[in-house]
Amino acid sequence: ISPKYKFFREQGLRPERQLPSALIIGVKKGGTRALLEFIRIHPDVRAAGSEVHFFDKNYMRGFQWYRSHMPATLEGQLTIEKTPSYFITREAPHRVHLMNPSTKLLIVVRDPVTRAISDYAQAISKKVDMKPFEQLVFVNGSIGSIVDTSWGPIKLGIYSRYLSRWLKFFPLSQFLFVSGERLVLDPAIELRRVQDFLGLKRVVTEKHFYFNSTKGFPCLFKSEGHSAPHCLGKTKGRSHPYVNPIVMQRLRDFYRPFNNHFYQITGINFGWA
Ligand code: A3P
Repeated sequence: ISPKYKFFREQGLRPERQLPSALIIGVKKGGTRALLEFIRIHPDVRAAGSEVHFFDKNYMRGFQWYRSHMPATLEGQLTIEKTPSYFITREAPHRVHLMNPSTKLLIVVRDPVTRAISDYAQAISKKVDMKPFEQLVFVNGSIGSIVDTSWGPIKLGIYSRYLSRWLKFFPLSQFLFVSGERLVLDPAIELRRVQDFLGLKRVVTEKHFYFNSTKGFPCLFKSEGHSAPHCLGKTKGRSHPYVNPIVMQRLRDFYRPFNNHFYQITGINFGWA
């Protein structure tokens, strides 16, 4: 329990649960857990710990149900939730808009080629008898054929397609695109953008992070519930399988026009090769 929370309680002010005013909607394997864990260090942010899957799987349970899954907040605290599948859920933009048309939307994006491999690495960790990545990427399982756009790990990397659906309901100004690459290289810079976007004081800074060379990722000195330095769990920052460089090149060529379209829509060049 934070000192601020305790103080308010002592004053007889009771915290309340609120629907989120900001959502981390995606993308899967972009670095969404890292973003949530980093932003929730902020004393004015309260986050639902696990993915609530309201706008995809649990919508029929209603907004009261959703609210009951949010943490209690004090006046002035912002409620945030992350479920990466919202980004690709057809009904989600409309549903989020019905909840609150001024909801702030955060999306962590990452080079779709490495994102696809990360997605595959996660899948194979759960299901060992999967075919090699190089086979699943192509329609006929061989480099000679076309890229299989119906395969989830590939399809999900066509960000512009999903973003267009969201833009039918929300203006671009309501989105913040976080670079998954920069979130690893320089988390403090990305977190500054996030705090500015959310209208928060810049409290989360480089002082909160250290680079753990064993893990190969930035970790936290302390956070809510942890007073000691710690990294994200084992499922974040998995090692990736070796992928044939020719296949990598084919994928880069495949994504190039989609990436360019995405840069055009967002006005940001993410620099994916
Ligand atoms: P890999 O496991 O492929 O490296 P998500 O939380 O959306 O599932 O994203 C997982 C990805 O977050 C990881 O993919 C990792 O690259 C990235 N990531 C970003 N910052 C991280 C951090 N500080 N610690 C661990 N993983 C981080």
